[in-house]
Amino acid sequence: MLRIGYYQFRPQFGQIQENLKQVLNALKDVSADLIVLPELAFTGYYFKDREETRTLAEDPQDSSTIESLVALCRDKDFYLITGFAEKQQDKVFNSSLLIGPEGVIHTYRKLHLFSEEKNWFDPGDIPLQVWEVREANVGMMVCFDWIFPEVTRTLTVEGADIICHPSNLVLDYCQQTMLSRCLENGVFAVTANRYGADKRPHGELRFTGKSQIVAPKGELLHRSKSQKQEVFITEIDPILARDKHITPLNQIISDRRPEFYAPLSQV
Ligand code: ACM
Repeated sequence: MLRIGYYQFRPQFGQIQENLKQVLNALKDVSADLIVLPELAFTGYYFKDREETRTLAEDPQDSSTIESLVALCRDKDFYLITGFAEKQQDKVFNSSLLIGPEGVIHTYRKLHLFSEEKNWFDPGDIPLQVWEVREANVGMMVCFDWIFPEVTRTLTVEGADIICHPSNLVLDYCQQTMLSRCLENGVFAVTANRYGADKRPHGELRFTGKSQIVAPKGELLHRSKSQKQEVFITEIDPILARDKHITPLNQIISDRRPEFYAPLSQV
């Protein structure tokens, strides 16, 4: 059994220290195995341009924000998955980091950039991969990746039991769709969304909250309110994601007919 959950909160744009303080404070008394934070949890989302994104992004290997999160994982003996603006030389990625007591374990870089993110970030360049966290296999995707069913399917075929999904959702479709993503792949998903708004001189973006955890049969285990802070933790059995039968005679992974899906692998 695994205690998994998320922290839904409202990062303030550009206030990395303040946002970090809020996360450290919210999680200081939480007992869990794995906690998911929203996309771009420390910088905020609505950048003016690529230059501003680069100014706020950090290299995780040289980041006091990450050092504090690793120390928190060590202190609390849990794992974190967090959205993070990742700087690497002349590139900047909208990333999700798996962090544990031992440090940064894996980096996923958002493959499908949403709207103006195409002006701010480089597209992801690391294959979708699954990592073991305690007794569970965990895959990561970031926000708008949800609209590409290939992402959850690839993570499932790679062996994911739980898909962790840091998000800054602005459209209304995702939360309900994730019930289907979980059913069609037989996996758990933790969508950790932010709420509130980024009010900037160039405009304002509002985020939809409603973070949630979904079980492999598409069952909604919990959904937060739209505009409210919440730490939510629940106990799940990740083994439930290993049985892919939908009837005794239908198994959703081995029943696939990939020989008929060839157009999917053409660019
Ligand atoms: C999104 O991908 N942040 C909408």
